[in-house]
Amino acid sequence: MSTHTPDPALEPSRRTTKLAVVGAGAVGATLAYAALMRGAARTVALHDINAAKVEAEALDLQHGVQFVPQAEVIGSDDIAVCADADVVVVTAGAKQKPGQSRIDLAGATIGLMKNILPPLVEVAPNAVYIMVTNPVDVVTYASLKISGLPPQQLFGSGTVLDSSRLRYLIAEHCGVAVQNVHAYIAGEHGDSEIPLWDSASIGAVPLLEWNRSGEHGPLTEEVRATIAHEVANSAYRIIEGKGATNYAVGLAGTRIIEAVLNNEHSVLPVSSLLDDYYGIGDVCLSVPSIVGRRGIYDTLQIPLSDSEYDGLKKSADQLRSVARQFGF
Ligand code: 2OP
Repeated sequence: MSTHTPDPALEPSRRTTKLAVVGAGAVGATLAYAALMRGAARTVALHDINAAKVEAEALDLQHGVQFVPQAEVIGSDDIAVCADADVVVVTAGAKQKPGQSRIDLAGATIGLMKNILPPLVEVAPNAVYIMVTNPVDVVTYASLKISGLPPQQLFGSGTVLDSSRLRYLIAEHCGVAVQNVHAYIAGEHGDSEIPLWDSASIGAVPLLEWNRSGEHGPLTEEVRATIAHEVANSAYRIIEGKGATNYAVGLAGTRIIEAVLNNEHSVLPVSSLLDDYYGIGDVCLSVPSIVGRRGIYDTLQIPLSDSEYDGLKKSADQLRSVARQFGF
């Protein structure tokens, strides 16, 4: 066997990407699984205060790494497992029970963020932070204040999931592939969310002008109302049936992680701190935003109808008042 010493100057960089997932419950574990399946990061670190649970989840994932793109999985109840992560996704928090709204969880989850974030930021000061824990908009706002991180670096998964639910239902109605539907839900990830019908399109046809004949025909006001209602109530239905939502949120979270780690500058409706967005500010909520390696680069001022603007303003006022209620 011959050996040779490579010239260090010619060696490729050994820097690989690290994703830390905080919370190994249904959402955290599924998100880690989705990220592994899609090869989103080379190292996936799971952290949870429940040592037995986090070690078991990590072990189960480790046993599958042969079948996914190159990756390593680590898991621990020690926060140090998140050290030097490029992206930290926070999923830890109280579980929404059947009949509870996301906002009902605010007190418990904000309290939790006060404990979780300071040590996390200490071990992973340069990571982009993606908050998933509900109520995600209020949690994101409080987390910015607790962590002191710049708004570009910490944001929430927001309505990426709601928008994918919306696109799915539009695609079903119109009989087209979901990838050809461009439509966003803005505002709260929750009860006051707003579908942006005016700017939506299907394969370059403005949604409001969609006129295919037969069962895949126009999205009338009635059809739109049914779809909007179904999107806003999907999570309640899923929680009623199986106790939690996990698959779509895991995939939506992974999509955001990819946009960050690949520096995609993709347009995603994430929840960020708004500053004079059509006069709306000092609140975190979702609007289509450009997401890349440093986090959020910009929010897009998309054209809004009067009722969409009123809805967004109302959503902002509600979220701000919940944050105030909890001292933020
Ligand atoms: C969801 O929308 C519960 O926020 C979670 O699936």
